[in-house]
Amino acid sequence: MTKVLRRSLIVMLLAAAPSAFAADVTGDWTATGQRSNGSTMQLMFRFKQEGTRLTGIVSAPSFDLAIVSGQVTGNDFSFSVQVTFGERSRTLSYSGTIAGDTLEISAPQPRSNVPVHLTARRATAAEVAANWPERIPPPALHPVPANGLARTPPMGWNSWNHFAGKIDDKTVREIADAMVRNGMKDAGYIYVNIDDTWQGTRDAQGNIRPNEKFPDMKALSDYVHSKGLKLGIYSGPGTRTCAGFEGSYGHETQDARTYASWGIDYLKYDWCSAGKIYQDADMQGVYQKMGDALHGTGRPIVYSLCQYGRDAVWEWGAAVSGNLWRTTGDISDNWDSMIGILMHQTGLEQWAGSGHWNDPDMLEIGNGGMSADEYRTHMSLWCILAAPLLAGNDLRDVSRETLDILENREVVAVDQDSLGQQGHRMVLDSAHGVWVKPLAGGAHAVALVNLSDAPATLAVHWKDLGLNGPMHVRDLWSHTDLGVQADGFSGKAPAHGTVLIKVAP
Ligand code: GLA
Repeated sequence: MTKVLRRSLIVMLLAAAPSAFAADVTGDWTATGQRSNGSTMQLMFRFKQEGTRLTGIVSAPSFDLAIVSGQVTGNDFSFSVQVTFGERSRTLSYSGTIAGDTLEISAPQPRSNVPVHLTARRATAAEVAANWPERIPPPALHPVPANGLARTPPMGWNSWNHFAGKIDDKTVREIADAMVRNGMKDAGYIYVNIDDTWQGTRDAQGNIRPNEKFPDMKALSDYVHSKGLKLGIYSGPGTRTCAGFEGSYGHETQDARTYASWGIDYLKYDWCSAGKIYQDADMQGVYQKMGDALHGTGRPIVYSLCQYGRDAVWEWGAAVSGNLWRTTGDISDNWDSMIGILMHQTGLEQWAGSGHWNDPDMLEIGNGGMSADEYRTHMSLWCILAAPLLAGNDLRDVSRETLDILENREVVAVDQDSLGQQGHRMVLDSAHGVWVKPLAGGAHAVALVNLSDAPATLAVHWKDLGLNGPMHVRDLWSHTDLGVQADGFSGKAPAHGTVLIKVAP
């Protein structure tokens, strides 16, 4: 080989080196990491690298987002996606490094500024198929027979608001014990509902198994039933739940049978990753499928639809045998979230009735983010709305003040009234609002809500509520009769507080 030839060969090799040996992130990756609150973040990435340009998809359990700008520089890469919450849009920026067949990625959290460290490996074909499954067409629509349950709004407890992923068999048993001990059961709270994160893998026949936190679901339901309570569980129509656990996609009938065999009494069915397979217009068929499956088991199982009020669910929820359907996104334990939900319930009252209820989400009472007055407002208004009353706090360790809010018999009676009519807003100005709920026997429950940050005297005329005085007035929080009032009523409420009265001719 001549000198010249040798030199040009070396030059050619060096020129080829960067592309021949540089890392290429093209492909599907599965990534996990721990959020600062201890929960697991699970994402999939589908990358396509062309030179220094990076395109693809960031896939969370419930949604896919296209990469809007991405680049690769040597072993480092960065990219961003655009995420929308209601009317607000935010750019989420990721950065990472490739080291062999592993990616180390710094991932932003949509609602916090603390990034999560993710480690990603190449996804298996099965993982890819589970994340982006083939679409099973939703069935043709037909009415599912009503199951006859939830004649009044369901009452109980749910694990999510307080425990999120930190729920297990032992805690559920302790909650059931507590509900018997602390009067919750006697006040009417019967369902003990396990939310997301109980699911394990499927066996060779496709049967869902609980994960290690729930060693024996049948034994757990036997225990809960022995306390005179009922057990609820959670799944969804997609391949993954919102927390990234196994969903019921393609296994609806089998899962319903499994739940029935375990002795389950209540199913919350959460849309989540179904949104990656279906359009909102498919929702009715998708929810009907599980409605049929539950009906087919022959076991009475309350059916709770959770798809955040999309596709006007109130118009068809009852037709798929839904006993309750969420009308909103998730509640948070603060005044703005709670009152924001309340303000969006107007007009939905016509769709609620015995056996099928609007669900403005679970209670936050006792979780610590609101004052006692605010929690009394939360309780008063959820009762006026004939909302399902699912406590979301740690009932093993609960103050007398919180129990007095959750267990107030006269307030709970407004929710559980046999007329089954959801109340609605009659008056609203910047400082106060008045909600009214018709009750059996011609009485009405009236909530006067102080929306301002200072104590206020709140007044209402009977005629503004469509009522003819005089009216007998009773204060439901304090259990006191306030006499007969000719034209209206006025009462003092603390900041963010509510006066809840029952008025009868
Ligand atoms: C969704 C639901 C919540 C809860 C979580 C669990 O966000 O709306 O109520 O069930 O999923 O992952």
